[in-house]
Amino acid sequence: MGFRKDFLWGGAIAANQVEGAWNIDGKGLSVADVATYKPDVDVKDYKKNVAVTTKDIEEAIQAGNDKYYPKRRGIDGYHHYQEDIRLFAEMGFKVLRFSIAWTRIFPNGDEKEPNQAGIAFYRQVINELKKYHIEPLVTLSHYEMPLAMATKYSGWASKQAIDEFVKFAKVCFESFPDVKYWLTFNEIDSVTRHPFTSAGIIPDQSKNLLQDEYQALHNQFVASAMVTKIAHELIPGSQIGCMLTKLTTYPATSKPDDVLVALNKNLLNYFPADVQVKGAYPSLVLDYFAKNHIKLDITDEEKAILRENTVDFISFSYYMSMIAAGDENGLEMTAGNTVVGGKNPYLETTPWGWSIDPLGLQISLLELYDRYQKPLFIVENGMGTNDKLENGKVHDEYRINYFREHFKAMRQAVDAGVDLMGYTSWGPIDLVSASTSQMSKRYGFIYVDLDDEGNGTGKRYKKDSFDWYKHVIATNGEEL
Ligand code: BG6
Repeated sequence: MGFRKDFLWGGAIAANQVEGAWNIDGKGLSVADVATYKPDVDVKDYKKNVAVTTKDIEEAIQAGNDKYYPKRRGIDGYHHYQEDIRLFAEMGFKVLRFSIAWTRIFPNGDEKEPNQAGIAFYRQVINELKKYHIEPLVTLSHYEMPLAMATKYSGWASKQAIDEFVKFAKVCFESFPDVKYWLTFNEIDSVTRHPFTSAGIIPDQSKNLLQDEYQALHNQFVASAMVTKIAHELIPGSQIGCMLTKLTTYPATSKPDDVLVALNKNLLNYFPADVQVKGAYPSLVLDYFAKNHIKLDITDEEKAILRENTVDFISFSYYMSMIAAGDENGLEMTAGNTVVGGKNPYLETTPWGWSIDPLGLQISLLELYDRYQKPLFIVENGMGTNDKLENGKVHDEYRINYFREHFKAMRQAVDAGVDLMGYTSWGPIDLVSASTSQMSKRYGFIYVDLDDEGNGTGKRYKKDSFDWYKHVIATNGEEL
């Protein structure tokens, strides 16, 4: 059968990891602008890498430069977007997923009028994409909430965030009516794993963190449903997707205890998609709330909004899988995407500890499609690792192997009947890591000459994987 004729092959980036230009043309500070690069923390120590405290924020505001804040400089995509898009076009991209930095449009989130310079920038980016017939796929919120919303209103834990976000999204829909594909919240489920990055909650200021996290998640569900409705009204034919971190967990053994624990982890991972696709909270989660004394402010009006405005498609990130056991003592743990989980002894890992599991992608696609029967879109996948630039070349067969195996798995799922709309690899051009703020964790087909401290020329080089991916796209995935 093979991939759809109109399969959307491409890549995915986010404003805060690429653009830099953190204080240019009226941009305000976002939560990403206070994330530090920590050379003394083990890259596998996910929790230490993402923790942000009130003190960290105060220091970051005072710092006033990008020295320890790599997301403030990114890869200077703000000034290189034409060159970068030209390279994506050369690979034959049909789609580019990117995010609109909320702080370029509303620097603090709560202004009445949008910043015209921010709108003008994204207008140019979209025009540039259209020039090459590359479809924009825009994420409205990708770990870059205005910092002022976090410090003034406790981020997404407050209902005020809903109003401000709806105002921002409306401006985006009105300004860019030629964008057909939109995602609301990147990895929405991650609110409970990194509440500051994902929802602007400063943990040391929260009196009841678990409750605040789930309230923030609920507020994001409501905001997402509201903007889905507005997008459908303002841009006829537009398609709005939810975005889930697909964290596939296997039982460590066939012991029923282990199977049950793994099942519960998978069900909890699905729950945000349940709300956004089916329009209501699953009873298992309501039971979890009750057992954990989580009391959310959910109105009848909000329930109706959720019910009436479900998503058009399901998008997700997939990088790795994990294992779980009833008794986790003795289980070797390793890092993964926004998590730490059991290490599968049958799988290799990247130097950052993420298990490489192409079959896990096939399993995830089959499960997701069977559960929801909605079109699926893989909007992040890839291998973050060290690359060596020698004489202007990077020989990254390891990356090609990674992609080849994942594409084979996708093909198997498609041949089994899964409706897959497209695939955007994460970081088609090297960018700043979300979790560790490193440059050295590289995902790209395009190498960017910058190191973790920001030294380097910033020059772009094609890796071996560049031509390989170009050929995959040209043959619609037939030749790997
Ligand atoms: C996802 C995020 O969590 O994974 C991206 O949506 C992120 O922003 C990607 O970059 C890879 O994670 P990391 O930590 O390697 O950058």
